[in-house]
Amino acid sequence: MESPWAGREVLGGAVVQDARPMDPEVAMKILVVGGGGREHALCDALARSPSVEQVWCAPGNAGIEDVATCVPDVLASDVEGLLELARRESIDLTVVGPEAPLVAGLVDRFTAEGLLAFGPTKEAARLEGSKAFAKAFMARHGIPTASYMSFDDVDAAREYLREYHRFPAVIKADGLAAGKGVVIAPGRREALEALDAMMLERRFGEAGDRIVIEEFLRGEEASIHVITDGRTLYVLPTAQDHKAVGEGDTGPNTGGMGAYSPAPVAEGRMFDRIEHTILRPVLMGLARDEIAFRGCLFVGLMITKAGPRVLEFNVRFGDPETEVLLPRLRSDLAEVLKATAEGRLDSVPEPDVDPRVAVGVVVASGGYPGPYAGGKVIEGLEAAAELEGVRVYHAGTRRPTANVVTAGGRVLCVTALGEGYAAARDRAYEAVDRIRFEGAFARRDIAHRALA
Ligand code: AMP
Ligand code: GLY
Repeated sequence: MESPWAGREVLGGAVVQDARPMDPEVAMKILVVGGGGREHALCDALARSPSVEQVWCAPGNAGIEDVATCVPDVLASDVEGLLELARRESIDLTVVGPEAPLVAGLVDRFTAEGLLAFGPTKEAARLEGSKAFAKAFMARHGIPTASYMSFDDVDAAREYLREYHRFPAVIKADGLAAGKGVVIAPGRREALEALDAMMLERRFGEAGDRIVIEEFLRGEEASIHVITDGRTLYVLPTAQDHKAVGEGDTGPNTGGMGAYSPAPVAEGRMFDRIEHTILRPVLMGLARDEIAFRGCLFVGLMITKAGPRVLEFNVRFGDPETEVLLPRLRSDLAEVLKATAEGRLDSVPEPDVDPRVAVGVVVASGGYPGPYAGGKVIEGLEAAAELEGVRVYHAGTRRPTANVVTAGGRVLCVTALGEGYAAARDRAYEAVDRIRFEGAFARRDIAHRALA
């Protein structure tokens, strides 16, 4: 079989071929699908691109309105509505933020209609949409990950857990569960409870009809985002998010309470290891399995004593990772995403990355990740954004009248660039402290590991 590398060094020291200057005559109209902080960061970066004429966002939010034309009544799950919008506005490229529409086949549908979309096909999206599929893919291609078993029969799973003796065990719902489908069970009782909740009570619906039980890995986490068209890897800076709601990474998991980039634990020689043992084998595996992946692959890693191990694949940009990655990317994002969707990523120049550090702090609604109230007026947004090197990305916000109000658990992600972690963090918190709404809270220790 011919190597997908086609004789090119496509990682790190990529040899740039055919780098073409942008033609102003072909300025693009781009539609971004989604309405969170990730999509605000995407729209913001795309709006800055010299090759973009106009950015649309469906549904968008109150902050995205500043950089894009929002279409609040077309939701990310409304594939037909999105298709109609893309046709009506002669959209040149649709960029999909969240995983659910990818797993549901949005990109396949757009492609069938002759429309260009950035994101993997339904089949390739199974790397995120089914943990059992992802584990089998890794096993097949020798990609280092926790050892595991998968079950779709509750009795067989119970039997396995009764014999299990290496607790804690990690129990995962196979399908999409909005980041809540992973339980770290300290002992047998908790493991069996988690199993019942997923398989019998069906807490995550059909996502829990199959489960994965895997080895618990110790170490420090990091995320790698790579944009790929299946042949070339366009490696974005490393990042790390903080999933737990409480300081010191305690309490229940959330969608992410903050992030920073780069992640020192995955830099230098460790990055080379990740590239050789994970990124390249993933690309080779996709090629061998004839799975066409054109999009952003976000690899969640545990850096263990024995080396990097894959915790999970996501088939889209992370949130809040994107809010610290894109402010550091000086390259023309629109050109990169379009070239990826067209399968000619080898034609774009290597990433141009700002050497400064980015720290992003999520400001959330009181009660999150449990129940919370919405509709709280947010003050101080402009004062925060005035600070040098600061961007305030909106996640759950809307603007029903003149005021911007809260409309979600994660409300904002306040990102600051700085020379070093301490400077970036201090700037981010200075901005956070200028923002007020009833019940607002933020973790005060984002980037603590990088600072240690
Ligand atoms: P996932 O959605 O699979 O990334 O899991 C969510 C979180 O659960 C990860 O970010 C880790 O903090 C934790 N986790 C998942 N799998 C493992 C594992 N095998 N060992 C230790 N922690 C894990
Ligand atoms: N921040 C984790 C995720 O986007 O899944």
